[in-house]
Amino acid sequence: MILIETIRAMRTAVRNFRTVGQSVGFVPTMGFLHEGHLSLVRASKARADRTVVSIFVNPAQFGPDEDLERYPRDLARDRALLEREGVDVLFHPSREEMYPEGFRTSVEVRGLQDPLCGRSRPGHFAGVATVCLKLFEIVRPDEAYFGQKDAQQAVLVRRMAQDLNLDLEVVVRPTVRETDGLAMSSRNGYLSPEERAAAPVLYRSLERARALYEAGERDAGRIAEAVRGAIGGEPLAAVEYVDVVDPAELLPLERIEGAALVALAVRFGSTRLIDNILIQAKET
Ligand code: PAF
Repeated sequence: MILIETIRAMRTAVRNFRTVGQSVGFVPTMGFLHEGHLSLVRASKARADRTVVSIFVNPAQFGPDEDLERYPRDLARDRALLEREGVDVLFHPSREEMYPEGFRTSVEVRGLQDPLCGRSRPGHFAGVATVCLKLFEIVRPDEAYFGQKDAQQAVLVRRMAQDLNLDLEVVVRPTVRETDGLAMSSRNGYLSPEERAAAPVLYRSLERARALYEAGERDAGRIAEAVRGAIGGEPLAAVEYVDVVDPAELLPLERIEGAALVALAVRFGSTRLIDNILIQAKET
């Protein structure tokens, strides 16, 4: 695996792959990799000739009171993990490389950036869209891989790619979970042992939503209420939102006619976790 730190060198590497007719898969990350990221790497490797992974803790997607400085970083460990997976290129640009003095452009995906996490994280999704567009422009991949855990991000990036006619496919892969159901996240490491023991309530509550749906419940409000109720039984958990929305437009649903995304954000102390499930009628 080669480590590349400049945009210029990254462009040259991809150009060289293309010259010999090789396709490129891309996994953008902020590092501190876990099995969720590695599942995206494996999906890319299964399809593309070459796989590029980026590690860049993007300051533009953190609010002033968020965890940019304390966001976990361990490049040596990440490098070893990616090496073991057979990744071809690790792109690890500096902040100055990505946002040089005078940088002033921002990409907005109106509507999709505002609900769910957008309510408490203004500017977050503009930061995500901007860095993704920059990375796509630098790496020029055939496919870019995202996890379903960040459902709103995936919907928004896919929309941006469509709206701006980007010549790439946005591939969304299932959430990878710990054995107790907790969705893998680089932020899980912030949890105290007590909070970590309490956190699987999120997935249990989402499973409760699925069970209600499968038992015939179609009232989105009642499903959201049941999820809030299940989490409410856990004293260490403080619900920020539980919403049942249309999976493509992220608009709130009253009744579930087709598919629905049940999405939540919950705080355990100072750690904010998100999770979601897609529910839809089983194909017969
Ligand atoms: O999901 C992430 O890790 C980040 O939001 C991403 C897509 C790498 C953009 O910084």
